[in-house]
Amino acid sequence: MFDNNSHSCFNLAMYICLCKAVTDKDIHRAVGDGASSMRCLRQLNGVGSQCGRCVGHAKEVLGEALEERRSAQASSTQKEPVTVVTGAGSGVCYP
Ligand code: FES
Repeated sequence: MFDNNSHSCFNLAMYICLCKAVTDKDIHRAVGDGASSMRCLRQLNGVGSQCGRCVGHAKEVLGEALEERRSAQASSTQKEPVTVVTGAGSGVCYP
């Protein structure tokens, strides 16, 4: 995976698709809005629709964004902790 971390330290966007001026943040935003495939990204912002050199890197960023979305959904659907009282004492569990 290509990543020089230059974008993460300063919260800067990194261009993924130069032909269509699409950044990694644009891809993350599109995934947040519901995009889940390269076809969706191509339709939304044109990634990979011209020279195609960005497709590999765009897929990597798409995969990262989808994983972040899954993690966020999993944590938001986590049920409230329940206090359990047993003979040995009490504790908190996550159902
Ligand atoms: S760099 Fe994305 S289509 Fe050319």
